[in-house]
Amino acid sequence: SLMEKIQSLIDEVLTQELGRLHDIPLYKSFVAGWPQVEAFQARHDDLLIATYPKSGTTWLSEILDAIYHDGDLEKCRRDAIYNRVPFLEMKAPGMLSVLGRLEKTPSPRLVKTHLPVHLLPASFQEKDCKVIYMARNAKDVVVSYYYFYQMAKIHPDPGTLSEFLQAFMDGKVAYGSWYKHVKGWWEKRHEKRLLYLFYEDMKKDPWREVQKILQFLGKEVAEETVARIFHHTSFQEMKKNPTANYETMPTTPMDHSLSPFMQKGISSDWANHFTVAQNERFDQHYQQHMAGSDLCFQLEA
Ligand code: PPS
Repeated sequence: SLMEKIQSLIDEVLTQELGRLHDIPLYKSFVAGWPQVEAFQARHDDLLIATYPKSGTTWLSEILDAIYHDGDLEKCRRDAIYNRVPFLEMKAPGMLSVLGRLEKTPSPRLVKTHLPVHLLPASFQEKDCKVIYMARNAKDVVVSYYYFYQMAKIHPDPGTLSEFLQAFMDGKVAYGSWYKHVKGWWEKRHEKRLLYLFYEDMKKDPWREVQKILQFLGKEVAEETVARIFHHTSFQEMKKNPTANYETMPTTPMDHSLSPFMQKGISSDWANHFTVAQNERFDQHYQQHMAGSDLCFQLEA
């Protein structure tokens, strides 16, 4: 039938090998859409949420959308998170244009990106937009990414965890080297209106981290509103919230039966996945690639 033909066409496009955008591996459909993304017209009051994949983007997005709506949870449920906080460089067959949606979005807009800092469209700098970057430790990122590769069909087959660890260390996964990404944004933090946050801190002391966010945004929010936002953005609440957990995505791009988008949402889960040998190799490589940087991550929960 026609539906089957369309389905097989989509499958074909979705299971391709990664393409390349300048120095990073990236989905071919995103690469094809890049000229429009590069020409994106930011507005001065846009807030950019920037992360390496699987670092707490959705969590931070939900928190910010709730802050922007002063804790009105009805408003937070108005649409799926990927529509409330559009993913700048996303382009997939059969999906509405993100850029078109962004153009129609009234200010102030929240925008999500996974781009490394050196590939950010020039307009964000020209308009001096605020950016919140969230980083997560490499070991939890790689485990989360491994499961995401399996459930989100835009990715090529990740192979075994060992193979995927190697690809991650070599910067051969989508968005390239985690090391370059976190360091690149870290080094630019004084040049931009940039708040650099850590997933691990947000888990440990969300009050303190949200105070940083509010101060950065120049917003005041009542304490009971902040408490309501915490409840709404807790892992348990987000996991069962269809406007936050990506379950409203069609199953073609994301198969939640293979692995839910919201897996565990904890720190240090990597210890349940890495073998001792893999961990040693990873540590050695990590030390080489983070040497000389004052950027530090907490690995123990
Ligand atoms: S994506 O696809 O790159 O945008 O994914 P991203 O949202 O950055 O990362 C997904 C991981 O974040 C976890 N998550 C949370 N952790 C704690 N609290 C809350 N509220 C929360 N929401 C999402 C999600 O579970 C993924 O991590 P893992 O380790 O896979 O569970």
